[in-house]
Amino acid sequence: MHRCPPGNQAALGEGNVRTIKAILCASAIILATGVAAQPVAHDDSAAVEIVPAQPDWAKSDPEMDRYLDDLMSRMTLTEKIGQMTVLTSDWDSTGPSIRPNYVEDIRAGRIGAIFNAYTADYTRELQKLAVENTRLKIPLLFGYDVIHGHRTIFPISLGEAASWDIDAIRKAARISATEAAAEGIHWTFSPMVDIGRDARWGRVSEGAGEDTFLGNAIARARVEGYQGEDLRAVDTVLATAKHFAAYGAAQAGRDYHTVDMSDRTLRDVYLPPFRAAVDSGVASFMTAFNEVDGVPATGSQYLLSDILRGEWGFDGFVVTDYTSINEMVPHGYARDLQQAAEQAVNAGVDLDMQGAAFMEHLQQAVDDGHVDEATIDRAVRRVLEAKYRLGLFDDPYRYSDSAREKATVYRDDFLEAARDMARRSMVLLKNEGDVLPLVGNGRSIAVVGPLADSKADMIGSWAAAGDRETRPVTVLEGLKARLGNSATISYARGADYDFNAAGSTDGFDEALAVARDADVIVAVMGERWDMTGEAASRTSLDLPGNQQALLERLVATGKPVVLVMMSGRPNSIEWADANVSAILHAWYPGTMGGHAVADVLLGDYNPSGRLPMTFPRNVGQVPIHYDMKNTGRPIELGEPGTKYVSRYLDTPNSPLYPFGYGLSYTEFAYSAVALSAEQIGPNDTLTASATITNTGRRAGETVAQLYVRDLVGSTTRPVQELRGFEKFALEPGESRTVSFTLTPADLAFTRADGSFGWEPGAFRLWIAPSSGANASVPVEFNVSRP
Ligand code: NOJ
Repeated sequence: MHRCPPGNQAALGEGNVRTIKAILCASAIILATGVAAQPVAHDDSAAVEIVPAQPDWAKSDPEMDRYLDDLMSRMTLTEKIGQMTVLTSDWDSTGPSIRPNYVEDIRAGRIGAIFNAYTADYTRELQKLAVENTRLKIPLLFGYDVIHGHRTIFPISLGEAASWDIDAIRKAARISATEAAAEGIHWTFSPMVDIGRDARWGRVSEGAGEDTFLGNAIARARVEGYQGEDLRAVDTVLATAKHFAAYGAAQAGRDYHTVDMSDRTLRDVYLPPFRAAVDSGVASFMTAFNEVDGVPATGSQYLLSDILRGEWGFDGFVVTDYTSINEMVPHGYARDLQQAAEQAVNAGVDLDMQGAAFMEHLQQAVDDGHVDEATIDRAVRRVLEAKYRLGLFDDPYRYSDSAREKATVYRDDFLEAARDMARRSMVLLKNEGDVLPLVGNGRSIAVVGPLADSKADMIGSWAAAGDRETRPVTVLEGLKARLGNSATISYARGADYDFNAAGSTDGFDEALAVARDADVIVAVMGERWDMTGEAASRTSLDLPGNQQALLERLVATGKPVVLVMMSGRPNSIEWADANVSAILHAWYPGTMGGHAVADVLLGDYNPSGRLPMTFPRNVGQVPIHYDMKNTGRPIELGEPGTKYVSRYLDTPNSPLYPFGYGLSYTEFAYSAVALSAEQIGPNDTLTASATITNTGRRAGETVAQLYVRDLVGSTTRPVQELRGFEKFALEPGESRTVSFTLTPADLAFTRADGSFGWEPGAFRLWIAPSSGANASVPVEFNVSRP
């Protein structure tokens, strides 16, 4: 077997430019394996069949059909259109405007669903209005943004993704659904499965990061967690895959901005997590605000009908995002709301969120012959089916039970699960001289920074029903609770984190005074909670306010500085990486976050999180992701400083921290990869194994990551793609062999002619602790022609 230095690192660059040797070696592999450097012709038998999904809960139900046929035969067109409208209650606003008369609208049967209303009592009250006042007594559906917890708040979604712990993520969704369902909610607007590759975009915090493979696994886990095994169970809620589609690719990272990408990238990178959600039986989809290739997603026949219904066989319902039908007018796609309503319903939208476009214009559209009544019937049927499957026609109040609510919300085991999820999500980015874990006993710790004792920040954005005032445990509180009187803990806020970098330095003296008296400084810095999430894009990824200036002063004291970062995106912390002793990324860790940070800092939990997004050195590298293309002039072709290669003049190509990266308080050694075969046929399975040993002195968890590179394709292929991962714990000295199996279908992509399938040829594969690691030597295998 031919062996070369890892091609993946060579392709992405490591800061120090590699020599031409790597390229020669790579060419040798291609020649040795006999793959021509020409596009490989594919055979149709290598196409990967896309089988439409049919989840158990959505299987046909003759009794339901009879019930709904009868109900629909008695509905007027106005009543049907009512079922296609969802409005917010006035409890909360998650968009620009609120239609004031929702109570009157409920009574009149003009709306079929409400969002931003919860608690058993309030949902019961609103449900009563519908059931007791409308002619057909059709119950309301209650939706809500239950994104990373309902009352008990888990780490932000990106933080959960950093755990790479699929069971824990599923469990967090299960608990969130249980709490939400006990407060009258039937339907969550989650999971957000948008791929996020641009750290400027504030909504990267809500997703699972930059990678499609990891994103697929997390999408499935969240849908399974929310919907459970049986939607009739009162602790399950309908899930929503959002925002369909490509919302994460907003130009320049500015929220709601234009998206324009190749169909290949759309299908290979941005759509798969949506497809994974469909395969897991997700009940609903939410459209995106953005346009894709000139067509607003909410009016896109291509996305909503051709792909979602046609290719994937999705039979749940599609809701718009907030007023996104109305927004087709400023997009310049519809001349007025009448036309926008027609475009949306004809494209495949079933439910209009907050726009009242259907409510006000669908009747006219049918009268004018622009929309078929059959189209309306199909949409209404999907919404009614969801209500039926939830059991609302049997008992409209079954989710609004205040005794269950009381017994469920903030259960001790939920809080404990939130603490566990939080510590699993934290990523140790640096630990020079093993400054962590901290020795608590008898020592003095200075806790400094605007996020050190801020309850509001702990739960991050989109913690809709989360308590920001009393419940969250701050880092200061967590450390105090853990250490009691065994250590001296002093605190100073020190700096501000608003956008005024020249802000007052009044707090610096106090912070420096406590710092000078301490053995170690824990600086808790980052972004204010509302600097990520919706409408929270930034053009700088630096620490906001005067935190950087304070951090520099703290380092200048000569004391060890541990930086605990809280943020919902990758920040540019190159200076910190070079100058502080240790960095722990804690995201926004949720209600129990302060305890979880203490667990990690004191070594009660050995950090095991891995980055789900690449951390750039500075904003100029963005968008940066681990699976980029090699280009015709990869940086390794030149000696340092060579001009005509794909590089920056002022920054290395390599990121500050690569995707998949994270340290532990112990060390792991990865063996060479063993393959079951060097050549496989179209129907064969390949097994790749490596033995991983805990070579340090503490028990800990590693995440073994399998990367593959398709060396030559009919279209160019990324320098590496994640195709497997496994997280597991090892005692000191313990070893474990991990095995991943691959079939040619796992190597499929959108080929030059637009078909989806794999191509024969040579592949490189390695198993490593991150996408940037040097720990594993790649091996090659070939897939033969069908
Ligand atoms: C707008 C957001 O884009 C979406 O994610 C959310 O679910 C809705 N508002 C409802 O709050």
